[in-house]
Amino acid sequence: MLPSQAPFPATRLRRLRKSPAIRALVSETNLTPADFIWPVFVRDGEGQVEPISSMPGVNRLSVDKVVDAAHEAHALGIPSICLFPYTDPALKTECCSEAWNPDNLSNRATRAIKEAVPDIAVMTDVALDPYNINGHDGFVEDGVIVNDRTVEALVKQALSQADAGADIIGPSDMMDGRIGALRGALESAGHTNVLLLSYAAKYASAFYGPFRDAVGASGALKGDKKTYQQDPGNSDEAMRLIQRDLAEGADMVMVKPGMPYLDICQRAKQMFGAPTFAYQVSGEYAMLAGAGERGWVDGEKVMLESLMAFKRAGCDGVLTYFAPAASRILNG
Ligand code: PBG
Repeated sequence: MLPSQAPFPATRLRRLRKSPAIRALVSETNLTPADFIWPVFVRDGEGQVEPISSMPGVNRLSVDKVVDAAHEAHALGIPSICLFPYTDPALKTECCSEAWNPDNLSNRATRAIKEAVPDIAVMTDVALDPYNINGHDGFVEDGVIVNDRTVEALVKQALSQADAGADIIGPSDMMDGRIGALRGALESAGHTNVLLLSYAAKYASAFYGPFRDAVGASGALKGDKKTYQQDPGNSDEAMRLIQRDLAEGADMVMVKPGMPYLDICQRAKQMFGAPTFAYQVSGEYAMLAGAGERGWVDGEKVMLESLMAFKRAGCDGVLTYFAPAASRILNG
């Protein structure tokens, strides 16, 4: 309960909204480019900027163009870039060994960014789906997505990313036990300062559709991800997952998707007080950017309002495809 306040007219709450100056003084939430992690899609080739039709304004970039993006991020004050590879379908197999190839697309992009713009924190994705012939985040045996064998592969994948220079490793696979296994392996390999940002509360969501187009996993995916990603109706389960991942050695946790799950963000931050991030996912981006493009909403305003909402809910930061556009506006 709020403490009691004087009745009207002694209290007129509109006084606090009377001018931009007063509103600025009493504003409770602050959004800056330092709150953003910018997810980018990486493809083969050179000089390639390939539009993604279901994500207007977002492109697949060849490694040289990803380096340009890293320079841009740095100039705008965005601290981190997160890499998602579009893997050549010919490299997708059942054993997913491209995932831990030291020279795969993600690792080449990481090395290139760390060489050119060392101040940018590079985040990488740990999950088998970009490399898996059936589009799942884990190995599939007789139609079942198996856990423990997948975790062994995720460890190899994460070590190859840390060797390439990744600062933040983001396991997005939702297998059980992977945070502990990854933390142990990183410690043993001497990667003691590599951070784990766990996709701890990741829901089985229809909002990932455009992403699956972007990384070329839509066609490949057989079935759904409901045996490893969460039921959208569950909230206590999310708290158990976050608690478990923090106990296993996650440095930071994520809730995903973002805007439909702000209650989960708020509850997680209040309950654990750990660095908490939301992923404003591809489908959220597509809705806002698509409606903005058509003039159905004011695209810039809904972008900033949606991002502010994450901060208000208690998030420390947001993974968002809007990172550069929002930063340009925030920087004036
Ligand atoms: C898969 C992965 C997904 C996203 C990030 N990593 C999709 C999925 O789980 O199918 C979604 C991101 C987005 O929609 O923007 N490991």
